[in-house]
Order: sequence, then C-alpha cells, then structure tokens
Amino acid sequence: MTKVITYGTYDLLHYGHIRLLERAKALGDYLIVGITSDDYDKTRGKINNQQSLMERVAAVKATGLADEIVVEEYEGQKIDDIRRLGVDIFTVGSDWEGKFDYLNEYCKVVYLPRTEGVSSSEVRAEKRKLRIGLVGTAVFRTKFVKEAKYVNGVEVVGVCASRSSDESELKDLFYTDNYDELLEKVDAVYIISMPEKHYEHAKKALLAGKHVLCESPVALTKAECKELFTIAKERNLILMDAIKTAYSTAYERLVLMAKGGRIGKVVSVDAVCTSLRDGISIERTDLSKKWNSMCGWAPAAMLPIFQIFGTRYDSKVFYTMFQSKKDNIDAFTKIDFVYPSGVATVKVAKGAKSEGELVISGTKGYIYVPAPWWKTDYFEVRYENQEENKRFFYQLDGEGIRYEIVAFAKAVESKRNMSYVSQDISEAISGVIEDFDKRKDLIEI
Ligand code: CTP
Repeated sequence: MTKVITYGTYDLLHYGHIRLLERAKALGDYLIVGITSDDYDKTRGKINNQQSLMERVAAVKATGLADEIVVEEYEGQKIDDIRRLGVDIFTVGSDWEGKFDYLNEYCKVVYLPRTEGVSSSEVRAEKRKLRIGLVGTAVFRTKFVKEAKYVNGVEVVGVCASRSSDESELKDLFYTDNYDELLEKVDAVYIISMPEKHYEHAKKALLAGKHVLCESPVALTKAECKELFTIAKERNLILMDAIKTAYSTAYERLVLMAKGGRIGKVVSVDAVCTSLRDGISIERTDLSKKWNSMCGWAPAAMLPIFQIFGTRYDSKVFYTMFQSKKDNIDAFTKIDFVYPSGVATVKVAKGAKSEGELVISGTKGYIYVPAPWWKTDYFEVRYENQEENKRFFYQLDGEGIRYEIVAFAKAVESKRNMSYVSQDISEAISGVIEDFDKRKDLIEI
C-alpha cells in the first residue's frame, strides 16, 4: 500500500483544494491530510483564517477524499508524521516548489501544479471590506493603520483629526475635521481621541449605526460605559474595548494557567506599567493634550487583576503623585486593591520609571512576565524547586493589535461580540478612573 500525505490550512475549502486532494489521493492508495492548527498558523503569520480548526477539519472530511486526518501543530512535525505513519509520498501544491526538498531523505516528494485563479485569500477578500475610520490624534494610530494592512477584509479609509506631516502611514487616507463626514464614509470607527472624548465619539458612532473599537477607558464613568454597551446591544452593533494586551496569546495563556490552578490559589497580582517617552514631565508641554498615567496605563494594568480576581473588590486606595493637579495629570499612581481572598497592586507612571513586569503569586508558585509584560510573547511559571520551572513562548505579531483587529472584524461579521475584554471589565475600568477623577480613596504623595 502506498501512503500519501499532504498538508494545508484548507480555510473556506475551495475548488483548488479539492483538485489538489484528488490528485494527491491518485498518487497512492491511502491519503493522509495534515491540517494546520490555529496556533501553528499564527506562528506562521497566517492570522486571517475565517474558520476554526474544527470547521476546516469537518470540511476536508466531507470531501470523502481523506482516509486519515492529522492536525499539524508544530514546526518539524512533518518529519515526525512521515516516520510515525510510514508515509511513502509527500505532496503539496507547486506554490511550495523546492521548499520541501529536504523531506526527500524520508520519502518521495511530489509538487502538484497549483490550480490557477483561486485561493483562500481571494475568497476571503471577495467579501465586502469593513471600512474603518480613525478618530483622534494619539500617536498610536499609525501603528493601527500599519497593522490593519495584515488583516484580510478591513480597510482603514479615513481619519478625523488634523493632518500631521510626519505620519507617512496615513498619507493615503481621507482627512476631515468633521466627525459626521467621517461617519458617513465608514462602517466602523477606532477611537483614539483624548479619554474625555471617548464617550461622546463612541455614542455618536453607535447612534449612527457604526461599530466601535475604542481605546480604554471606553468612558470616564461607569454609568456612561454601561450606557454605551446598552446602545450597542440594542442596535446589534459591536463595541469593543481596545486593550491590545488581551489579544496576546502568551498573555491569554498565562491568565488561563493562573485561573486553572497551575500556581495554586492566586493570592496576589502585581502589575507595573511605566513610560517616560511621551514627556509629561518636560517643561512647557501642553499637559491638557496629554493622557495622564491613569488613563494611559491603568486599563492595561488592571486587566489581569480583573480577569483573575473579578471586578468585585472589597476596597481600593490610590496613592498619587500629581504632575499637575489642575490638568488632572498624575506622574505616578499606585492602586492597592483588596479582594476577599487576595490582594492586587497596579503601579502606573508617565512621570516616573520602574520595571514593567507582571507577577502573579500563588500558594504553590508564581507566574513571572518580564518587562514589557503588556506586549509579551514570553513568561515563566516558577516554583520553590527550580527544576520544576517552565518557560512559555508564543508568537506575537504587531503587539497584539493585529489580532485585536482580526477579532473586531470577525465580531462585526458574525454580529457576536468576541471581545477578549468583557463588558463588566470595561465598566470596572471606567469605574476606577471615575473614582480617581473624583479623588475618592486617594492619598496624595
Ligand atoms: N492549492 C492548490 N491550488 C489552489 C490553492 C491551493 O493546489 N488554487 C493547494 C496548496 O498548494 C496546498 C493545499 O492546496 O497544497 C492547501 O493550501 P492552503 O494554503 O490551505 O490554500 P490557499 O488557497 O493557498 O490559502 P491562502 O490563500 O490562505 O494561502
């Protein structure tokens, strides 16, 4: 019996895939199809799959051509599969010509001519693109435009703000200072205006029937945040809190590990985020145009705390050093949260510097995420006995922004909120910012 193996993603199974499978099958008597896992595709930079692994497996199964299906999960698996399954022929389409010659050592390698004129990428692109408009001037917006280019099915079309000369990424976009005009031309907005404008910008967009991806905090009070989510729900629109860290695979996994008992019972979460880069301490800076440390950093720093301990803390205290009280600019803020069975701290600063690490302490061990933890691809689980320590690495492209845009586009398409930041967390974040602004439980240092 001649065993043949072939590999692929098989997203939105099309005629080209079926022809490949038919010819692969004809090369022998028994066809094994390797289908890439979502995680493995991510490491290969394939982030746009519309279908999950299970859906892709089901589609290949339904062709009736595969005698066996395996999931491809890691680099180097092909050799393992060929040996393990006793494969005689390895085959793929001619788009891979030459790339798998190294497998000749283990079996015969055949490149089959690729079917012209069809690909998963093209099928995905045929769908109408989600047109996104940007609102606001935060420097972060150029990153967003750059990252959106990697995502199938979205297009950043315009910006509502004043034109700035040094942003070459934005030069092809439509510019306006009239928000209504932008809203007319888009299906969704990404809001990066000053935090005090988020509520107004988000509400207007939602009332105009547009989906919203909003930098955190979504609003400066809990009630306003809740109101926005209610409007979105009533109108069947997506409102997503844009904390990019939530979309980093490593971050997502470490939160699951902490919650799953890997370090015992979690007793403390300590998150530090600081940056001096955008200069609130520089003399003559117009502080009224700056994000304070609380709005700039605290949403990301509170995320692991709320995801692990929940949003119902017993108490909290702010310790703040102000840069300018009049402009509500804090150079440094530490927040202590007390929960029924644990404690947490946030340290955020734009006018002070510290080590930007995340430590989650448990009764059996701790999770350590080195700086800058908010854009991490790596973490360690550490124990008293160092031999038990484990290190984890997960590919991270575009600081998580790319995956966040993928999730947003998928949510809009499926009309299901796929935000990794739940509504109660967005509301809790807005609630903490509200208390800070009211100087509730705040000790000045
Ligand atoms: N294939 C083919 N003809 C096509 C498209 C794909 O023969 N028109 C083959 C590929 O060479 C590969 C297998 O089908 O051996 C699975 O390919 P996959 O990467 O899943 O499909 P693509 O349509 O190429 O996907 P994408 O556009 O995302 O790269």
